[in-house]
Amino acid sequence: MEETKASQPNKRTGYRSFQLGRFSFSRDEYFATIGWQARETQLAHTLPVDAFLRALMRDVAWGFFYGWVNFDGVVGTRNRYGTVELYAGRYNNGYRDSGLDYTETFDTAHIESTFKGILEDWTNSGFDPFAAPTETGNTAFGKKNGDNLEAINRSRATCVRMPGLPDDAPLRSDDNGYPVNRAFADVDQDEPEVCAEPGFENDVHAFNLFKYLSRSDVTWNPSVVSVCKSSLFCPTTEENILPVIHGNDRVEWFIQISDEITWQVSDKQDGTPRARVIMKPGDVAAMPANIRHQGFSPKRAMLLVWENATVGLPERYESGELSPYPVQF
Ligand code: PHB
Ligand code: FE
Repeated sequence: MEETKASQPNKRTGYRSFQLGRFSFSRDEYFATIGWQARETQLAHTLPVDAFLRALMRDVAWGFFYGWVNFDGVVGTRNRYGTVELYAGRYNNGYRDSGLDYTETFDTAHIESTFKGILEDWTNSGFDPFAAPTETGNTAFGKKNGDNLEAINRSRATCVRMPGLPDDAPLRSDDNGYPVNRAFADVDQDEPEVCAEPGFENDVHAFNLFKYLSRSDVTWNPSVVSVCKSSLFCPTTEENILPVIHGNDRVEWFIQISDEITWQVSDKQDGTPRARVIMKPGDVAAMPANIRHQGFSPKRAMLLVWENATVGLPERYESGELSPYPVQF
């Protein structure tokens, strides 16, 4: 595997710069800057470093997710399941139409190790890319100040069947380090009583999902709480802004469990605005396979993301075999 290419720490800021193929990554006190070349011109794009690290964290933790992970309207990744495309301007009409966009494909292990190297070097002590901004403050900024390996090495919580079953993911409690979040102090903490017939103890199971979510220590990070063949229930707790603009390579469903989230939905290819969806508790929405979307949540909210992990779906949507909409009204 190719090695991660990192510079010596910058003498003034303390941060390293990184090279990935023909892309460069550097940071200063406030910003991350990504460089590339197109039409024999050196181009650069700058993002606030806290937003960049939050997006990078999701991309790494989710294994490049389903389809596109846009860090903003210019830079992002496309998962090719084994390889990953890194692009600048590819899905932005301004860059695309003037030929100033650039895309390069990497083995997943190579881009992952470079992205992890950036996260490790650029995440300061106290900054948790998974936390809500009010919980982690302004710790992303300034000159290099320690690290936060514990926060960035969290693995995405997932289960074999359901949390709480024998040999499966644990439920959350004060005792295993998951206290109730301040936003969910009113959430009932009783567990259901399960009375299985003898012999069915391993087949019947239930747990309090509200309790489980009230104890999530991360935002905008779906955890898998039920696996039924290719059907994955991935609930998550959301506060502030989804740090990425997700471009779908399949349909996904949202069920709003509590509070309110506003979704900005745009065309996947060029970002043209398509819809604004305001979801209140009980609302269900299908996000089509041809859009990108970003959520805004003023108060920590519970959201169920329902994913379809059927192998081969991206090709079936891309070829037009499947409609981008799950239902036709
Ligand atoms: C999504 O892109 O569908 C998504 C990602 C993370 C979340 C919620 C939704 O927390
Ligand atoms: Fe999505």
